[in-house]
Amino acid sequence: MADRPEDGPKRRAGGEKPAATLVVTNIRACLTMAGGKPGPLAGERQGETTVLRDAAIAAAGDKLVYVGPASGLPAAVRVAPDALRVDAAGGIALPGFVDCHTHVVFAGWRAGEFAQRVVGASYQQILEAGGGILRTVAATRAADEEELVDATRARLERMLVAGTTTIEAKSGYGLTLADEAKILRVVRRLDGTGPWDLVPTLLGAHALPAEYHDDRDGYVDLVLEMIETLADRAAFVDVFCEIGAFTVRECRKILERGRRAGLGIKLHADQLSDCGGALLAAELQAVSADHLDFVTPEATAALAGAGTIAVMLPTVPLYVMARRQAPAARLQAAGVPLALATDFNPGTSPVESMGVVVALACLLMRMSPEAALVAATRNAAWAVGRGDRVGSLEAGKQADLQVYAIDEAAELPYRFGQIAPSVVVKKGRIVAAEGELSAVQ
Ligand code: NIG
Ligand code: FE
Repeated sequence: MADRPEDGPKRRAGGEKPAATLVVTNIRACLTMAGGKPGPLAGERQGETTVLRDAAIAAAGDKLVYVGPASGLPAAVRVAPDALRVDAAGGIALPGFVDCHTHVVFAGWRAGEFAQRVVGASYQQILEAGGGILRTVAATRAADEEELVDATRARLERMLVAGTTTIEAKSGYGLTLADEAKILRVVRRLDGTGPWDLVPTLLGAHALPAEYHDDRDGYVDLVLEMIETLADRAAFVDVFCEIGAFTVRECRKILERGRRAGLGIKLHADQLSDCGGALLAAELQAVSADHLDFVTPEATAALAGAGTIAVMLPTVPLYVMARRQAPAARLQAAGVPLALATDFNPGTSPVESMGVVVALACLLMRMSPEAALVAATRNAAWAVGRGDRVGSLEAGKQADLQVYAIDEAAELPYRFGQIAPSVVVKKGRIVAAEGELSAVQ
C-alpha cells in the first residue's frame, strides 16, 4: 500500500469548523481504502490504498468530517463537549466490512447435510434427492414473518460484532410470489430497525421448486412476474446460472426483464461448472459475477472488458468439498476488480464473518492481505452499488468503521478467526465493542 496524504477536511461555508460528535484517536494506521477515481480498484491497484500513520477520524452525525493525521484534527474540527471519544489504543482502523453476497434470510440450519458431505455425498446429489436449497425453501415457506425477522436479526447482530456494517440480502428461499415477497419484507423491516444497511436482491431464480418440476417455462414466467411485482422492493436481480439450476437462456431472459424494471444485475456464475454464466454476466455488463470457481480465460477477459466485479466466495468450495477456488490471480491480472463476501447461507456457507473470508482469500487464493481487505470493503461496496457512500474512509462518506487492537493489518488474516474488532462504528455510533453488541449510543 502507498503512503499518501489524505484530502484535507471539508470546511463548512464561512470557514466554520464542523462540530464532531464522534472522534477516534490514537490510531497507529488507518487503511482508508480511499484514493483515485471513484470505483472499485483493479489489477495492480487492487491492493493499493492510502495508509495514514498516527491518524485520527471525526464524524458529525452519520458522516465523516475528518480522516487524516492526528496532528491536523484540532485545526479541522470543533469537538462537541458531549462527543463520543474512542481511543484506538494504537490499533488499526479500516472501513466496516461490506458483505456483498448473502442469503441471510432463511429458516433452519442444514448441519445434517454437512455431515453427509464430509463423508462423501456431493452437493448436487443432495440437491437431486430433494435436500439442499429445496429443504431450506420448505422450512422458509413454513416460517412466519416474525420468526424470520427474529432469526435474521440474530445473524445480522453477529455480523455487526464481527465488523460488517453493510450487508446484501437475497431472497430465493421462497420461490412463490408470496414467499419471495415475505423475504423481501423481512429485509426491509430489518433495514429500517437495526444499525446496518441492507441491500435487497431478488433471487427468484435460485432453484426450480418441486411443483414446477415438469414446467420449467412456467416457473421462469413466475420469476418474470415476481420481477414485475417486487422490483420496487429490491435493488438487484440475481440468478443461479448452473447445470441443475437455470440455463444461460433462462437467465438472460430473467436478467433482461430485471434490468428493464430498473434493477442492477448479479449472477451466481460458473460455481460448479463452466456453463457460460460469466460470459453472460459480461454480455449484460452485470454489476457483479459471483463464485467463478470454473471461470475460463475467455470469460475472464470478457468480464474485464465489461467492468463487471468478480465476487469471490472462498468458504463455498470448502463446504462443498470442491477444493477448487476462483482464480483470483488470473482475474486480477486481467484487470477484473475483485470483491469478497461470505455467501452466508445454511448450505454452502454457514459463515457470518468477513474476517474469516479475508483470511481464506489469503490462504486459499493467495491474495495479499491488502488486496483482500480492499475486496472486502471498497470493492464490495461498489458490488452492491453503494460505493459512493460506504467502503472507504474519507470526509463526506458514511461513518462506518472498525478498529482492531493489532499492530499491522496483515495480523487480521494471519490470526485467522481469533480477533474481533475492539470497536465497530455504524453511521457515527458505536454499535459493538470487544465482541459484544453495544446499546447504541
Ligand atoms: O450461493 N449457489 C446457489 N446458492 C447458494 C447455496 C444455497 C444453499 O445451498 O442453500 C450459494 O452457494
Ligand atoms: Fe449465493
